[in-house]
Amino acid sequence: MTTERPRCVLAFSGGLDTTVAVHWLTHERGFEVVTLSADLGETEDTEALQRRSLAAGAVAAHVVDAKELLVSNFIWPTLQAGAMYQGVYPLATALGRPLIARLLVEVAREVGASAVAHGCTAKGNDQVRFDVAVGALAPALQVVAPLREWSMGRSEEIAYAAAHGLEVRATVESPYSIDANLWGRSVETGILEDPWVSPPESAYEWTAAPESAPPEGAEVEIHFEAGIPTRLDGEELSGVELVEGLNRLGGAHGVGRIDHVEDRLVGIKSREIYEAPAAVVLDMAHRQLEALTLPRDVLRFKRLVADEWAQLTYDGLWFSHLRQSLGAFVASTQPLVTGEVRLRLRQGALTVLGRSSPSSLYRRELATYERQDDRFQHQAATGFLSIFGLPLRTQAQVQGRLWEDSRPLLQSAPRGIAAAPGSEEPGASGG
Ligand code: ARG
Repeated sequence: MTTERPRCVLAFSGGLDTTVAVHWLTHERGFEVVTLSADLGETEDTEALQRRSLAAGAVAAHVVDAKELLVSNFIWPTLQAGAMYQGVYPLATALGRPLIARLLVEVAREVGASAVAHGCTAKGNDQVRFDVAVGALAPALQVVAPLREWSMGRSEEIAYAAAHGLEVRATVESPYSIDANLWGRSVETGILEDPWVSPPESAYEWTAAPESAPPEGAEVEIHFEAGIPTRLDGEELSGVELVEGLNRLGGAHGVGRIDHVEDRLVGIKSREIYEAPAAVVLDMAHRQLEALTLPRDVLRFKRLVADEWAQLTYDGLWFSHLRQSLGAFVASTQPLVTGEVRLRLRQGALTVLGRSSPSSLYRRELATYERQDDRFQHQAATGFLSIFGLPLRTQAQVQGRLWEDSRPLLQSAPRGIAAAPGSEEPGASGG
């Protein structure tokens, strides 16, 4: 008779940390380990992954192609929200974690596991995202983070792997810590830890150096259907294909490099390099289309939502009530965000060339300065202004003062006055 061991589902990337974790969870913690590897777009050969998982002692190795799930459930809603953490980071890593957490929970239910595990350290944001997401989805599951518990550093882990005959991925060791999925590549540590040092070219893999990109650049036309990009230059593509296509195009033209000193949730400022060509291009295009199709007050309110969305996502609160409610709001703004945006990519620069939409609120007959086409009611402006300016006129009449320094500005600005010949000097009086 075999004694039942508790089961644990480990998020398995196939790197040193998680390979050692399979063995450690089995032998130090007494778990029967099932691994889950989610392909979010930047995963190595899945057979090799499964082989290494089983060789390290896992009883089963699940691999899920989660690219389409990432795009439809996480990337598109975030693009529609317009969310960029601290205004610049498109949140690639932060969006991948809640998806992996949800898959972990679902596999845990399937195999009857009482725990899930991940290979995150105690200093980063990612442990927060896993722990909090799992707590929100399955509060009864235990979350184990071997790297927070064992006291091994990298060289001890290598020794551990050697001592137990674990097959470790044979890669040239990168000087950086890298996380990548379809939506972007995050690079940190090594020489990048000095925020004064400019990133060496070797830190970049997806993007050409802007100065060595083709000087003629490229144009691209993106079609959106209800806030979702569906066509590139007229060609209908799946979400995954479209993002991959723009990563290639943007990358070739040096678009999508981001160098940012970022505030981590754990209170640390860290210097991060990102490559996110598709995210940067689509964000600009989507904004342009919203500017054409959404009313001013919706745009303004949406900017607040975007900031909140970015922070909630970054902080691991994707499954919070608030993020989900904001999701309903954002979705309600998108049905008419349909149309085309034309952009130019050239040596790292991204510029909009044009935009059009069947639901465009732009009316040339209102905007034009050509007299004969103009349909704007010029006379109505007088009445509008007498009301719009009323509170300020009232205040000036009753209280009679400017709240800022009201000394004449003319005193502190050099002035030249030319008087017409024979006229009395109309300028400075008195004196
Ligand atoms: N700073 C990013 C975030 O918190 C990326 C973190 C993962 N990056 C890495 N190079 N391992 O979402």
